[in-house]
Amino acid sequence: MPDAVKVGFVPFSSAPRGVLVIFCDDTLKFGAATRKALGAAVNLVTRAAATSQFKGKSGSTLDILAPEGLKVSRLIAVGAGKLSGLKHSDFLKLGGAAAGKLRGNDAVTIMAELPDGPMKPDQAAAVAAGVRLRAYKFDRYKTKKKDGEEDAALRADISLAVGDVATARKAFASHAHTVDGVIMARELVNEPPNILYPEEFARRASQLRKLGVGVEILDVKAMTKLGMGALLGVAQGSTRPGRTVIMRWNGGKRGDQPVAFIGKGVCFDTGGISIKPAGSMEDMKGDMGGAACVVGLMHALAGRKAKLNVVGAIGLVENMPDGNAQRPGDIVTSMSGQTIEIINTDAEGRLVLADLLWYVAKKVKPKFIIDLATLTGAIMVALGTEYAGLFSNNDELAERLTKAGIATGERVWRMPLGPEYDKQIDSQFADMKNTGGRHGGSITAAQFLQRFVDGTPWAHLDIAGTAMGAPKSDINQSWSSGYGVRLLERLVAEYYEPKR
Ligand code: BES
Ligand code: MN
Ligand code: ZN
Repeated sequence: MPDAVKVGFVPFSSAPRGVLVIFCDDTLKFGAATRKALGAAVNLVTRAAATSQFKGKSGSTLDILAPEGLKVSRLIAVGAGKLSGLKHSDFLKLGGAAAGKLRGNDAVTIMAELPDGPMKPDQAAAVAAGVRLRAYKFDRYKTKKKDGEEDAALRADISLAVGDVATARKAFASHAHTVDGVIMARELVNEPPNILYPEEFARRASQLRKLGVGVEILDVKAMTKLGMGALLGVAQGSTRPGRTVIMRWNGGKRGDQPVAFIGKGVCFDTGGISIKPAGSMEDMKGDMGGAACVVGLMHALAGRKAKLNVVGAIGLVENMPDGNAQRPGDIVTSMSGQTIEIINTDAEGRLVLADLLWYVAKKVKPKFIIDLATLTGAIMVALGTEYAGLFSNNDELAERLTKAGIATGERVWRMPLGPEYDKQIDSQFADMKNTGGRHGGSITAAQFLQRFVDGTPWAHLDIAGTAMGAPKSDINQSWSSGYGVRLLERLVAEYYEPKR
């Protein structure tokens, strides 16, 4: 259901049927293969463009029904704007903009060509990926279709016409795993919390075994033995027990130091005893967006048999206010031995992450740790929904994440850390408290996390604004975005894998 679109590749010379999609720049120029496919109909496009004031601006479209002189039912021109400096994310957007105009199950041909020549294999593959990302829809729980809605969904077989079919296919093979990973993450975030609770989430993560990922599930007994008192303190207020899932992909050399990713997996966040107001509380089913990203990323990397060792760790709990729930004033002992005074039970994400960070730092000793968490409302106040907050103790890692963010369009903005912020989380009764007051809420949360990484190169991504509820875009029409999968896949491929 989530992905009814099939994308394939054909040579430029094959005759288009059904819907034909072509690309132009902001001078309304087309490439040679496109002009050939249009023949005399090129005049039609010029006239239609003038009538509808289509200027080829980036992402704009011109739609011509039953074009005279062509054997296609529809001709869609998509503007690519200025051609200089188009990034990977721009090609994704072109695919998304094209798919946004498509309906039903007509055959579709997309000419993967710009005015200055055929798209490179990687660019054509990005267009194909953009089509699939745009087409994703979460409608599992809709039993009735509104009139005509059946037709509204895109169920098409889409062919990209390219210069070299074999290399484009090969390039797409690896992109396709990333798209699968993004869609997997979106699915997990969109699922309702009565269906997706910690044990069920762990079960779904364990399906990665099919791809050769080692999956270890720690239950409450195992976590108790490890002394994960911070995570367990959050979990104890729910009748549904918590889980930690450790995923291992060993695509590198034996003994090579792995990289590690950690995700906050709060399957539902009521706030606990410090309960949240009712307005929009339903959104807190998405408080496991960090964990969803890590699972999607492991899927993408294992799917394409990435040549490095990777560990993914997710902490799965439900933050509920039952009779056994933790109270403000409680003091818990984390796995690191550091004690934490609970001031606000709604600052639960950092408690879950504290034990996972320590576990991974000590047991895995990775090259670096990147954690992702829908951690604070304050990050949305600071950055809105366009950028995730980036906090890091390592400039090189921060720099690389920033570059990967620009390339993929999953952007990050670096925020400060520093000992000056420590006094806000000092406690009069324990080693620290779990909230730092109104000022700099995202920073004090990150400063708290840093106390559990034991000096490991580390970056924290606060994705509360980007993982879900962000405005719809060319490549995402769903509530959840799958944020982070593309960003981290790119980071790994660019900097931590032997060049393919
Ligand atoms: N999961 C929330 C943060 C959040 C809010 C994510 C809105 C996405 C949308 C987190 O657990 C939380 O409740 N944070 C509190 C921290 C505060 C109590 C220090 C917050 O941001 O208000
Ligand atoms: Mn909370
Ligand atoms: Zn939360």
